[in-house]
Amino acid sequence: MKITINNASSFVPAGSLSALAAQTSAANGLLESGKGAGNDFLGWVHLPSSISDSFLNEVQETADLLRSTCEAVVIAGIGGSYLGAKAVNEALAHTFDNFMHERKDPYVVYAGNNIGEDYLADLMEFLSDKTFGIVNISKSGTTTETALAFRLLKTMLEEKVGKQEARKRIVAVTDAKKGALRSLADKEGYKTFVIPDNVGGRFSVLTPVGLIAIAVAGHDIRALVRGAQDMEKQTGVGVACEDNPSAQYAAIRNALYQFGKSTEILVNFNPKLHFIAEWWKQLFGESEGKDHKGIFPAAVDFTTDLHSMGQWIQEGQRNIFETVITVKEPQKKVVIPSDEENLDGLNFLAGKRVDEVNKMAELGTRLAHVDGGVPNIIVEIERVDEYNIGALLYFFERACGISGYMLGVNPFNQPGVEAYKKNMFALLNKPGYEAESKAILARIK
Ligand code: PA5
Repeated sequence: MKITINNASSFVPAGSLSALAAQTSAANGLLESGKGAGNDFLGWVHLPSSISDSFLNEVQETADLLRSTCEAVVIAGIGGSYLGAKAVNEALAHTFDNFMHERKDPYVVYAGNNIGEDYLADLMEFLSDKTFGIVNISKSGTTTETALAFRLLKTMLEEKVGKQEARKRIVAVTDAKKGALRSLADKEGYKTFVIPDNVGGRFSVLTPVGLIAIAVAGHDIRALVRGAQDMEKQTGVGVACEDNPSAQYAAIRNALYQFGKSTEILVNFNPKLHFIAEWWKQLFGESEGKDHKGIFPAAVDFTTDLHSMGQWIQEGQRNIFETVITVKEPQKKVVIPSDEENLDGLNFLAGKRVDEVNKMAELGTRLAHVDGGVPNIIVEIERVDEYNIGALLYFFERACGISGYMLGVNPFNQPGVEAYKKNMFALLNKPGYEAESKAILARIK
């Protein structure tokens, strides 16, 4: 992985980036020393290097059992208990996986990440003629979206195959001791995995939260972890700032923020990376958006969104910068054919790979946006495979920890996400919310 920042550093006054070097190292040091805010949630920092073979074997065995007994596996979870697995699985899967007739893997479908009645009805209809299993993921064990989906799916599964058989097809990933899901799983005797206390949801993709769902989808979790382990080494405190890609990224985005660039757009030119951006949005949004501070994380898929958001990015308000995830080598090869009649006028591209066209679109876009006043950071990965995605995930996590400390916030809490829950529970008359119910009903009368 390589980071290039020269088309971003040129947008901040000379010396302002180097002035941040000490602050960047100090912030990285806080992740190591555990002396910063939110230090009870630093379990992710050395997570990759602490993953044992026996743990990976256990995850793989559980996944293999579901793979061999189920035509479909539902991954239930939301936020940090969903986006990491979804991001990795979407990046690595065949784009049309769920439409392929010859299947070697079970269908992997998701639930518990919304409260859409039609979504759940469609999902249950899809599952009705299939043998299916459920991986239910919730650290707190009480998240409404996930618990609601699980209640529906568990009931359906038990009615379909009986309680005894259903128990064998349900895996719970939750806290070691606390929460409704822990009590339920213990009572029912489900296979369980523990989410470490000191790893928050958005940093949990390399715990069972992400790994079990990634293994169920048939991807190589060992290579994923290896990529993250190598990136852990490359971003540690002993590495000089200029050689540490996470430190570089954290420093440049904070420098840009200081000079008015308050929105970061994560760009990909490969649709498989769409959900990596969704995961990244949660990682940075939930970590930095507090105390009325923080860069707003947005994302686009190019070239698709050049035909929708391109105008805004080229000529709209100049408070944005872009970070492009560029993929050096596609996994597959498609060559553009020549056409005798050339009615579409595309013979100038004949013989080229599609990726050559994509790369020129990327270069042309980057240059145009820089000309239009949009600073540009490039994060280059070799290819979209388990190893490189594992490295990319850890690169962003480490950068996020450093960047949050540089911004002066606690990057590891998320007090703001409670506000909607409190109102929703009050409006639904949840026991324990009587006073809030009274207050909110008076407010909306
Ligand atoms: O990052 C976070 O903490 C959140 O996105 C949570 O992961 C999300 O709300 C789901 O929580 P839980 O795993 O407790 O169901």
